This record gives sequence, C-alpha cells and structure tokens, in this order.
Amino acid sequence: MSPKPTQASDRQTDKSVSIYCFMDIVAKEAEEYAADHTTPMSALLEEVELFTLTRTPYPSMLTGRVEGRFLQLAVQLSSAQHIVEIGTFTGYSALAMAEALPQDGEILTIEHNPHYAKIAQDFFDRSSSGFKITLRSGEALEILKTLPDAKTDLVFIDADKQNYSAYYRESMRILRNGGLILADNALWYGRVFDPKDDESRAMADFNELVKADDRAEKLFLTIRDGIYLIRKRVGVE
Ligand SMILES: C[S@@+](CC[C@H](N)C(=O)[O-])C[C@H]1O[C@@H](n2cnc3c(N)ncnc32)[C@H](O)[C@@H]1O
Repeated sequence: MSPKPTQASDRQTDKSVSIYCFMDIVAKEAEEYAADHTTPMSALLEEVELFTLTRTPYPSMLTGRVEGRFLQLAVQLSSAQHIVEIGTFTGYSALAMAEALPQDGEILTIEHNPHYAKIAQDFFDRSSSGFKITLRSGEALEILKTLPDAKTDLVFIDADKQNYSAYYRESMRILRNGGLILADNALWYGRVFDPKDDESRAMADFNELVKADDRAEKLFLTIRDGIYLIRKRVGVE
C-alpha cells in the first residue's frame, strides 16, 4: 500500500478533503460516514479544528471528531481522573479529554514546540474545562521521567515516532494497574507493514514491543491511522 498523506494546500482549499483524506487505509466514504454518525464536538473544538486545518502546516496531526470522541469515551468509560498526554500540538485532543473529565480530573500535556504550546494554551484559556489542563513545554521523555510510579490512569501517546517505545516503557511505569495507554498512529500510514525508514521501523518496533508485553492486554484499532489500546493488567508490579 502506498502511503498518501494529503498535501497542506489541498486541506486549505477543501475542508472535506482536509479532514478525511489523511491516509487511504480506511476508505474515504467510511471515514465520512463514521464522522457523520458521530456526535459533533463542542464549538471550541470545531474552532481548534478549523484553525489547525487552515493556519498550520501539519493539519493531519489533528485527531479530529471520530478519534476525539473515542478519546472522550475512553476517559468516561475508564473513569480516568489523571491523564498524561504526550504531544499537545494545537490542543485538540487535550481539550477533548478535558471536556470528558470530572471537575477534579487533570491532564498533563507535553509539547516541545513553543509556538504550538502558545496556540494550545490560548485555546485552553478560553475553555470552561481548561483549568483541568497543565501544559508543560519541553522534551516529553525528560518530563515523563520526573512523574511518579503508578499514579496515572490514562496516557495518550501522540508525539515523535522514534520515541514511542521509550514513551511506552515510561507510560507503563507511571500507570496504575488497570490503567490505559492509547497510542496514536499505530498504523503509520500503513508503513508498519513493510517499514523502510527510521520512523516506520520505530513504529513497527513499538507495535512488536507492545504485542510481546505480557503485562498488558491489547486491542489494535483501525480507527483513522490506527490506535493501539493497551491496558496494564491488574497485579503487575
Ligand atoms: C501529532 S501532534 C499531536 C496532536 C494532538 N495530540 C492532537 O490530537 O491534536 C505531535 C506533537 O508532538 C510534539 N512533539 C514531537 N516530539 C516531541 C518531543 N520529543 N517532546 C514533546 N513534544 C513533542 C510536536 O511538536 C507536535 O505538536
């Protein structure tokens, strides 16, 4: 399968193209149908989406409605209260999860690009759920290493692909037993089937690392660019 990420120029002229043609693993019609049958996001999240599609060079990094709703349901169904997100970008997924959290829930989201961190913080400041979000600027792995063992309920991994395996190891350490990891881009445009570059090999290695880990229950979901849903088993040290 040949990966076909959409060009930014396409996205800026045609919003329907921009949202749904991120890659061609899932048929465009299926992506559109799924989005059309998924509850719309809040007005502010729609604004974050539009801003990201029209004002940033990498709109395909945005999770969007279907994955956003999936994250919200994962938060609600797992009764998560303490969330760590690796990779903030313009803040869409952090804000989506914050909206689904109870009033005393909290998200630590990590972003190393100060430009994106500023954009995201401005959106958080406008949200009635923004007080639940703490944005830390810096290298995700360094920040993760400062977090305590077994205190986190859910980790969303969505940053640089080369570090996914390292993020996974740290995530398993900071997760409580029964906690969840959701790792985005697990299909990596289909390049994990026959990896030929460093990022694709890193993602394929990450998927194998998870598959072989007896400490976890796993479900590989073909939503959008693939989400690896991982639950740390109860009873794991
Ligand atoms: C795919 S985007 C995140 C998208 C976001 N979760 C969403 O759904 O809207 C990945 C983000 O991770 C950030 N990033 C990449 N490598 C990083 C690192 N080593 N430490 C912290 N942030 C990093 C990038 O700057 C980028 O904004």
